[in-house]
Order: sequence, then C-alpha cells, then structure tokens
Amino acid sequence: MSLLPRPPDAVLPLADLLGGPLRDRHGRIKRKLRVSLTDRCNFRCPYCMPDSPDFMERADRLSRAGLQRLLRLFVAELGVTHLRLTGGEPLLRRDLEAVVAECGSLRALGLERISLTTNAALLARRAAALKAAGLDDLNISLDALTPDTFARLSGNREVQPVLDGIAAARAAGLPLKLNAVIVRGVNEDEILPLTRWAMAQQLPLRFIEFMPLDGRHEWSQQRVVTQAEILQHLRGEFEIDPQPRGSDPAAYFRLRGGTGAAKIGVIATVSNPFCSSCDRLRLTADGKLYPCLFSPKGVSLREPLQAGASEAELTALIRDTVWHKDAGYVAHPGYAERRIAMNSLGG
Ligand code: GTP
Ligand code: 5AD
Ligand code: SF4
Repeated sequence: MSLLPRPPDAVLPLADLLGGPLRDRHGRIKRKLRVSLTDRCNFRCPYCMPDSPDFMERADRLSRAGLQRLLRLFVAELGVTHLRLTGGEPLLRRDLEAVVAECGSLRALGLERISLTTNAALLARRAAALKAAGLDDLNISLDALTPDTFARLSGNREVQPVLDGIAAARAAGLPLKLNAVIVRGVNEDEILPLTRWAMAQQLPLRFIEFMPLDGRHEWSQQRVVTQAEILQHLRGEFEIDPQPRGSDPAAYFRLRGGTGAAKIGVIATVSNPFCSSCDRLRLTADGKLYPCLFSPKGVSLREPLQAGASEAELTALIRDTVWHKDAGYVAHPGYAERRIAMNSLGG
C-alpha cells in the first residue's frame, strides 16, 4: 500500500501526471505488466477459452516495434520492473525468443524480470533458446496428471508433452512454478496426486480457484473449490503451516508429511481476493490496456501509437487509465461484465 496521502478520486493528480510511480486511486503502485502476445492457443481449456473463439485479426496485433516502444515507456517512464509474457499461448509466436531478447534491452532502463506463462506443450524444443534469449522464469499450467482428466481440462490434449516441456525447462536452468486450476466435479481428486508429484520433483505448485472469467459462462459459485476446501484435501496427508503473505497473488502454506516437505500456494481470487495489494496491469496483443483482470473494457494504446502520439501523450494516457483502475473483484464479485475472454487477456 502507498504511504502517500489519498487525493480526491476523480481526477489524476498533477504530481502523478508529471512523474513518479504508476499509481491508482486506491493507492496501489504498479510494477508488473502482463503482456499477452496472442489470443490464440493450442489448448481449449473449458475454464478459459470460448466454444467458438473469435480470434483477433493479425493486422490488429501490435507490431514488434510498437510493442517495444510501449514496453520502453512502461519501464523507463512508468516504473514497471517485471514483464510477464502470456497468451493465449505465447509459444505459438514463432518470434517469442526475439521478443524476449528485445525485452532484455530494457534491463538497462530498470527492468528486473522477464517471465512467461505457458501451457508448456510446445516448450521442450524451445526451452534452451528461451533461456539463451534472456528469459528469467516460467509459470506452467498443469491441472491434472491423469491423462483423461488432463484431456477434459485442456480440450483433448495429452499431458506427456507438458511433462516433457517441464523437464526441458529444468534442464535449461529455467526456474518454474506450476499452476493448477481446480474445478469442482472435474479435478478435485488431482489435488493430492499433483501435490505429491510436485513435492517429489521439488517444484513449487499453486492451486487456483476457478474464476468467473471462463469463455463459456459455465462458472458458478458451486463449481469453485475454495482455498479452505483445497487445504482440507491436503490435511489428511500433511501438516499445514500458513506462511506470511507477500505480493504474489498466492497465499503460501508449508506442508510436512508424505515423502517430505514443500511449500504450496493457493490463488484464492474468489474466496479471499488479493486485490488490495494488486501491483499488476495487462496489455492485450492488439495493444489495449486493461488495468484489472475484471476491467469491463480496455483502453487502446495502439491507436494513439499509430496516429503518431508523443511519448508524453502516451504516458499521460497510461497514467490516467491506471489511476481510474477499479478496486477489483472485491468490488464486483460474480461474473465480470466484459466482452474480452480470458484467452485474450492472458489470465
Ligand atoms: P507471479 O506472481 O509473478 O508468479 O505470476 P502470476 O501468478 O501473476 O502469473 P500466472 O500467469 O501464473 O497466473 C496465475 C493465476 O493468477 C492465473 O489464474 C491468473 O489469472 C491469476 N492472476 C494473475 N494476475 C492476477 C490479478 O491481477 N488478479 C487476479 N484476480 N488474478 C490474477
Ligand atoms: N479461473 C482461474 N484461472 C484461470 N486461468 C485461465 N482461466 C482461468 C479461470 N477461469 C489460468 C490458467 C493459467 C493462467 C494464465 O490463467 O490456468 O494458469
Ligand atoms: Fe490456452 Fe491457457 Fe486458456 Fe488453456 S488457460 S486455453 S492453455 S490460454
């Protein structure tokens, strides 16, 4: 939380317009930008992708030069220190290594970390090249180990290429975390096997509550397996110690029992939102800035960029958009009234 005095909410204060950290009207400072590189995906996870996705036209995508110009502004002028490249599936971009390398040139301007969120099915052959290009770390989705359940949650894909991708990332020396979305009636019985597997592999694992952002509108409160329930599944086998909360969206728990000890996380957006300390922003592949995962609409940065806006005009637009960021899920629990699907927003 910011220690600065709270100005009136409606207008971006002059001091914020002139410089300093990127701040919203709820006093939260933004350090992380999630950059969606494509809305396309080789998976069809039902909790994410619509049944008949209406993918973005290539021509509407930000050019690489346009993207780098915006990212330079976010880092050099607005204090963003962490970029997370997302999708859809970012490995569908053949130029992903080049994008990572170009982001690397922003380190001299204050960038500290370049991360990737991926389903890892196409990772095995590219992990070493991504590491060489300057990628710092990865988050990999793994919702089940049982092939049938994995198929149900990915739109009929196989789990083995994902496990191969995980092994390749480790061999390349890329640190990684695993993400598992838990949906009632589909994969609660994977909670223990995933935990045992992650523990044996010594990989950090985070469970994610199913959020009301699925492209098919099948979400209901009843289908959310809450943090309390996830921990209840683990209690039969492990002793659980809650850990102090950081700026990560996950709450962490130390587990002891079974074959050893491990730390697991739970991202409990629905039952215990972390909105009050949210330090993130999102940029879509067509250059729209969404201050929150639950923002009803984005503000196009690509249009002013293409119309020849100056850096000062673009930073002012970004600062103003961020200033007006809503409180988050805490303010409007339930379905987000927004047109954009999760695959376009990068999670
Ligand atoms: P790190 O904290 O850097 O590891 O990344 P992350 O957890 O933000 O990234 P990841 O792409 O792995 O996202 C994991 C889950 O957290 C996904 O389900 C995201 O949708 C969710 N998530 C990420 N950012 C936000 C956010 O700002 N708000 C909410 N409610 N959920 C988020
Ligand atoms: N609820 C929770 N997490 C989701 N993700 C995608 N859709 C949802 C949803 N409806 C997660 C993916 C991945 C990350 C990018 O977003 O599993 O870990
Ligand atoms: Fe693709 Fe990730 Fe969405 Fe699954 S959750 S459809 S892997 S973008």
